Amino acid sequence: MRKPIVAGNWKMNKTVAEAHALVEELVLGLQSIHGVEKVLCPPFTALMAVYDMVEGTDISVGAQNLFWETSGAYTGEESPLMIKEFCKYVIIGHSERRAYFNETDETVNRKTKTALNVGLLPIVCVGETLKENEAGQTSEVVTRQVLQGLKNIQLPESESLVVAYEPVWAIGTGRAATSEGANSVIKDMIRPALAQVFGESMSQKIRIQYGGSVTAKNAAELFAMSDIDGALVGGASLKSEDFVQIVQAAAK
Ligand code: PGA
Repeated sequence: MRKPIVAGNWKMNKTVAEAHALVEELVLGLQSIHGVEKVLCPPFTALMAVYDMVEGTDISVGAQNLFWETSGAYTGEESPLMIKEFCKYVIIGHSERRAYFNETDETVNRKTKTALNVGLLPIVCVGETLKENEAGQTSEVVTRQVLQGLKNIQLPESESLVVAYEPVWAIGTGRAATSEGANSVIKDMIRPALAQVFGESMSQKIRIQYGGSVTAKNAAELFAMSDIDGALVGGASLKSEDFVQIVQAAAK
């Protein structure tokens, strides 16, 4: 009942010329795959080019970040209104932003509110570090990230929000969570936390992706799980063949 969503997080990769080459292949490769929402999240400098290239297809564009104010003297920041010109989605609270750019549950909350206010659909990332995982704190951490990050938020509909469970130790390491492990965090920890914020019925309809070393090889096994509704893909989204295979796996 939840339509899977696969998003490619390009991170700080691809010039406009490189983005053109990749999207050209993706448009061809993805056109015959149905039943999956497909999202590309290029860096800001390539948003407009990618937006133009996917026009008329069922591929959407997402940004990797935004600022919570809509205009003003904020040198170097991007307003949600500017992002809305090209994007349907926006990634918020990615662990790299939490680790390197002081993103906190509070900034995640402000950014998520402002995104929803302008009609952008946030992909909110949560996940524990290796240290937290080894200390048995996964449940505590992801529950706090959901409760604080999504505090006092009204959702127009369940499809207005996507959550990505990305254990930090699995990102870019080639060491993905096991499908059972990821499913259990999503089903037994994240969805119940969403139920506390939005109610049980809404929580069952919100899509929760898994992210962290998703590849063409492990995607099908992850997507076969009851509560994994797609993926947020980093490294493998930079190669058209791999990304197409991952989207294909989510369609089955
Ligand atoms: P990865 O990154 O697929 O390269 O592990 C995932 C992410 O950070 O969203």
